[in-house]
Amino acid sequence: MDERDGDWWRHGIFYQVYPRSFQDSNGDGVGDIRGIIERLPYLTRLGVDAIWLSPVFPSPMADFGYDISDYTGVDPLFGTMEDFDELIVAAHDAGLKLILDLVPNHTSDQHPWFIEARSSRENSKRDWYIWRDPASDGGPPNNWLSEFGGPAWTYDDASSQYYYHAFLAEQPDLNWRNPEVRQAIYDVMRFWLGKGIDGFRVDVIWHLIKDAEFRDNPPNLHYLEGRPPHERILTQYSTDQPEVHTVITEMRRVTEEFDNRVLIGEVYLPLHRLVAYYGNDLRGAQMPFNFALLSTLWSARSVETIIADYEKALPIGAWPNWVLGNHDRPRVASRVGAEQARIAAMLLLTLRGTPTLYYGDEIGMRQVPIAPNQVRDPFEKNVPGIGAGRDGCRTPMQWSAEAYGGFSASTPWLPLAHDFAHDNVVNLEADRGSILNLYKELIALRRGLPELVSGSYEPAVAQGDILLYRRRGEDGVVVIALNFGGQPAEITSSAIGFSNEILLSTLMDRQGEKVEGVLDLRPNEGVILGSPRV
Ligand code: GLC
Repeated sequence: MDERDGDWWRHGIFYQVYPRSFQDSNGDGVGDIRGIIERLPYLTRLGVDAIWLSPVFPSPMADFGYDISDYTGVDPLFGTMEDFDELIVAAHDAGLKLILDLVPNHTSDQHPWFIEARSSRENSKRDWYIWRDPASDGGPPNNWLSEFGGPAWTYDDASSQYYYHAFLAEQPDLNWRNPEVRQAIYDVMRFWLGKGIDGFRVDVIWHLIKDAEFRDNPPNLHYLEGRPPHERILTQYSTDQPEVHTVITEMRRVTEEFDNRVLIGEVYLPLHRLVAYYGNDLRGAQMPFNFALLSTLWSARSVETIIADYEKALPIGAWPNWVLGNHDRPRVASRVGAEQARIAAMLLLTLRGTPTLYYGDEIGMRQVPIAPNQVRDPFEKNVPGIGAGRDGCRTPMQWSAEAYGGFSASTPWLPLAHDFAHDNVVNLEADRGSILNLYKELIALRRGLPELVSGSYEPAVAQGDILLYRRRGEDGVVVIALNFGGQPAEITSSAIGFSNEILLSTLMDRQGEKVEGVLDLRPNEGVILGSPRV
C-alpha cells in the first residue's frame, strides 16, 4: 500500500484483533502485544491491510480493557510501551496500518480522574463525570438503565450524589459537556497519533452526550421478553443527542492534525440515524460502523433490502463499510451456519465499502459454549442465561493442533473450541478448499479487481434464495450470485447480463468455468463472475 495514499481506509481491509485472545507470548494464558507481533506474518499472508486492536491500556479489567485507568499507558498484562512501539514499527514494516480503540465515553472507576472527582463535591474534577442529586424519594435521578443490567446510577455515600454509568458501575461516564474533558481526551488522541498509529475506532461514540435535562427515557412498547432488561426503555435521552456531532467533528479535526488517519465510530443505531455520524459535509467519522449484517435475518431478500436501504441512506460522498462480527456479538459461523459462513465471506468481500473481519471468522470459528463456572463477561454475570454473554466469541485463536491450540503454553483465560485440533490455521492453510483459503482468495481477488473496491453497486433482480448484484467499474463489470438456500438454483444469463466465466466459487472448484446461457448454483454456493482475467 502507498503510505501517502489518503484513501487507504477506503481501499483496505480491516481485521479486528481482540488482544487477550490472539496470541500469548509469555505463557500466562492471556494474549499480548508480543504475541501479535509474532503473528503479523499470518495477517500479511491473509492479505488484510489494517489491524484494529481492542484496548491494551492499563485497566482493572472489569470489562476487559473497556474500563481504562490510564489512557496513555500499556497494561503489563499485554506488555510494555516498548512492545507497543515495536508493534507499530513491525506492523508498518509489514505494510499494515494500526488502529487503536479509543474509549472516551467512560473511564474505569480506578482512573485518577474519577478518584479525584469522587473525593468531594468541590474537587476540580467533580464535573468531569456526571453527578446528580437523588430523586425526591432518595432513588436514582431518572429511569435510565445500564446496558449491563440494573440502574445506570450508583449512589456515592460520601458525597450523597449518584453518578451515571451507561455500562458497569466500574465504568463511570465522563461528562462530555465539560470542555476540559474534551481537551484531555483530544490530548490522548494526539499522544497515540503522534506515535504513529493510523486512527481510532471510537467506542460507543453515540453515547458521548446525554440530554442536558436528564429527562426520563420512554418505555419500549415493543420490548421482547428474553431480551436484555435495559431494552425495556428506549434511549431517547441517554444517547444519540444532536450535540454529539459537534464532539465528533472536533475529534475528526484532531485526527486531521496528522496525515492520512481514520476515525471509525462504533454506532448501534438504525441506518437512517447511523448515517448522521458521517457529520455535516462528511466532517464526522469517516466510517461509522455499519452493523446491519450482525442482526439481520439471514436470507437473500433481507440482506438485499439492507444493502439497498444503506446505499440509499448514505450521504453523497460518504464511504460505506460492512461488518460481519466483533467481540460483542455471536460469531457469524454460529449465526448463519458453517455453509452459509462462506456466503457471508463472499458477501463481505464483494460489497461496496470497507470490510472489517473479526479475528477467527476467517477460520470459521464458532461460538464456544461457556460453562457457568467459566463465565468471564460481566454482562453475562449480571444478566445470566439469556444468551447475552460475549465470552463465546472471544475464545483463543486456533492456530494449530498443539496444546492450547498454539495460542498459549498454559491454560487460556477462556476455553478453546473443542474442535481446535481440526479447525486451526495450520490445517486449514493446508486444505485447499478450506474457508481460510476462500478468505485468502476473496481478498486476493478484491485486491486485483478495481471493480470490487471502487465499482458501483447495482442490484439485479433475482428470486427466492438468490442474491444477485453487479459491481461496475471503469473497465468492467463483476457479477456476484449468492445462494442463501440449501437447494440448487438456476440463474439465466439474461439475469446475469452477459456471458463470462467464474472467477471464484465459495466451494473453490469452478474457477475458469465458462458460463453461457444458464448459471447453476449448488446449495449454499456463491460465485463471482467476470470477464476472464490475464
Ligand atoms: C463497546 C465495546 C464493548 C464494551 C462497551 C463498554 O460496546 O465494544 O465491548 O463492553 O463498549 O465499553
